[in-house]
Amino acid sequence: MSSKPEKSSGSAAASASASGHDVPESLRRLDRLANVGLVSASLAHEIKNGLVAVKTYTEVLLEKGDDNQMTELVRRELTRIDGLASQMLRLSAPKASTPKTLNLHQTLDHSLRVLEYQLRDRFITLQRDYSASPDTVRGDEAQLQQAFMNLVLNAVEAIGQNGELTVRTVLTPAANGGQRLRIFFQDTGPGITPENLARLFEPFFTTKKNGTGLGLAITRRVAEDHQGDIEVTNEPGSGAVFIFSLPAA
Ligand SMILES: Nc1ncnc2c1ncn2[C@@H]1O[C@H](COP(=O)(O)OP(=O)(O)OP(=O)(O)O)[C@@H](O)[C@H]1O
Ligand SMILES: [Mg+2]
Repeated sequence: MSSKPEKSSGSAAASASASGHDVPESLRRLDRLANVGLVSASLAHEIKNGLVAVKTYTEVLLEKGDDNQMTELVRRELTRIDGLASQMLRLSAPKASTPKTLNLHQTLDHSLRVLEYQLRDRFITLQRDYSASPDTVRGDEAQLQQAFMNLVLNAVEAIGQNGELTVRTVLTPAANGGQRLRIFFQDTGPGITPENLARLFEPFFTTKKNGTGLGLAITRRVAEDHQGDIEVTNEPGSGAVFIFSLPAA
């Protein structure tokens, strides 16, 4: 995992970089992630195997019509557990990445389109301010889309109802003489408390009743796999801002 902090200072006192500054902490994090990765990959694998049989029998029961309500409930929960296990596998297993040259704004638009309904349903207005030009990057489209969707979903969940999500892109000079594309996801939710700010990217850290706490851990992994990073700040009076950055192609 590479991680290259090209620092931007946070816009508020409370800011955290996913890259970390002191070596011991980042090593601890790597170690934790490696352990979690190993354990969760094997667990996820076993869970998914076990579920195949259980799911098949549930289908049979549903077809036979025995207590459909109960069986339907079991089926729904099984699907949820199966999804959870898949997410654990995605987080921990080595991924087959297929990098190609992409137009970042197109990938962003794909991610936003998938979540269009969620935004509309909750009366959340979307502002797009794409000023990065050109917007080409080398990357794995599916992984980047997953990372962006995680960030948008979190913003939607933080806002709840009635608010605004702003997605902004800029091109900035990088330390190595190249350029970096920075994508800002800013919401009008409550922002993040200082205690939580330090823990957001830890796998399984969640403050949500039904959260898995894997969204940001996955997002950070995707950023790192693209020689990028992710930072978060609180924008006074207007919620959280997540900044995903990666090298411009
Ligand atoms: N935009 C945001 N505004 C406020 N808090 C946020 C925001 N994004 C993330 N968080 C906090 O970070 C925590 C971790 O987020 P993460 O996406 O990793 O997991 P989750 O959303 O809780 O669960 P899931 O696995 O379903 O994504 C959240 O539970 C929430 O407390
Ligand atoms: Mg999430």
